[in-house]
Amino acid sequence: MLALADFSTRLIAWQRVHGRHDLPWQNTRDPYWIWLSEIMLQQTQVSTVIPYYARFLARFPDVNALAAAPLDDVMTLWAGLGYYSRARNLHRCAQVVSAGYGGHFPRTVDELAQLPGIGRSTAAAIASFAFGARATILDGNVKRVLARVFGVDGFPGEKRVETALWTLAESLLPDAAHEDDVTAYTQGLMDLGATLCVRGKPDCGRCPFAADCVANVTGRQRALPAARPKKTVPTKKTWMLVLTAGDAVLLEKRPPTGIWGGLWSLPEAADEDALAAVAHSFGGAEQLQRLAPFTHTFTHFKLDIEPRLAVSRGSHAQAADAETAWVPLADIDSFGLPAPVRKLLGALQGSLI
Ligand code: ADE
Repeated sequence: MLALADFSTRLIAWQRVHGRHDLPWQNTRDPYWIWLSEIMLQQTQVSTVIPYYARFLARFPDVNALAAAPLDDVMTLWAGLGYYSRARNLHRCAQVVSAGYGGHFPRTVDELAQLPGIGRSTAAAIASFAFGARATILDGNVKRVLARVFGVDGFPGEKRVETALWTLAESLLPDAAHEDDVTAYTQGLMDLGATLCVRGKPDCGRCPFAADCVANVTGRQRALPAARPKKTVPTKKTWMLVLTAGDAVLLEKRPPTGIWGGLWSLPEAADEDALAAVAHSFGGAEQLQRLAPFTHTFTHFKLDIEPRLAVSRGSHAQAADAETAWVPLADIDSFGLPAPVRKLLGALQGSLI
């Protein structure tokens, strides 16, 4: 496994050669410029942000100008960037910095994180870029990089996993020998996540960690970081009868409410014996023949279906009521059948007739 100390050394070297150096909010230590960029870049891509960023700075050149502007003007300039609570918090934050801090952003992560719209990671990015602070960032991109390189399992939105990632991120931070190193390191994490270690198809061939990255080495780039867990849905089980007589199959109309309400379907039972009894009552032979089971997923549960095939020796008249029908297999499409039942009968059509 990659030694923790090697991570920052390699990342900084990579950032200096392959990272981004000419974004509009780089090559400055002005906390207003940096803060504005970090807020705009939350959940938004660089290419989208750039024109908004230029218009904002032209209209509000410093934090006092932004604080003094009517909120409506701020919202108008923000329109199209999305997540509008960011714009309202941006305006409130400018007012706090202007009125409460004399127009100067505080320098520590803790103070920055108290301001409206600035979370722990954004506070660290501002402190790192503007003040050269040795501060740990952990946004969505960084979580993905660390989960992959170090093979951190579990959904990063889960508290336990997030805490582990913060601890890991803190342990990776380089010593603050040079302020420039911290800046290159922080920017390198962002650049790696945004340019190579992307969600869909990471460019591992160009990654400085390819040889040690747990995800790359084990081929688990798609599995790491783990996706948000799907809500677990209960599984129910049912036995379904395909009872044939000549070229016809027995269909049953389902009750008007509940799943597949009012559709025609195959007779069902809660277990194999009960299904055999149903088959028997319609003239079915003793033996039920097992067909391949399958699962159908509804919104709120999964249904494991155990189909059984039987042949009826009885007369069709036995089932002639409003709720049951012997239907030639060739005609089943004119009955409203649930998709999985239609599929099952479709698959059998060739072999039954
Ligand atoms: N995403 C968040 N902060 C960023 C930055 N400073 N540069 C590029 N992308 C970012």
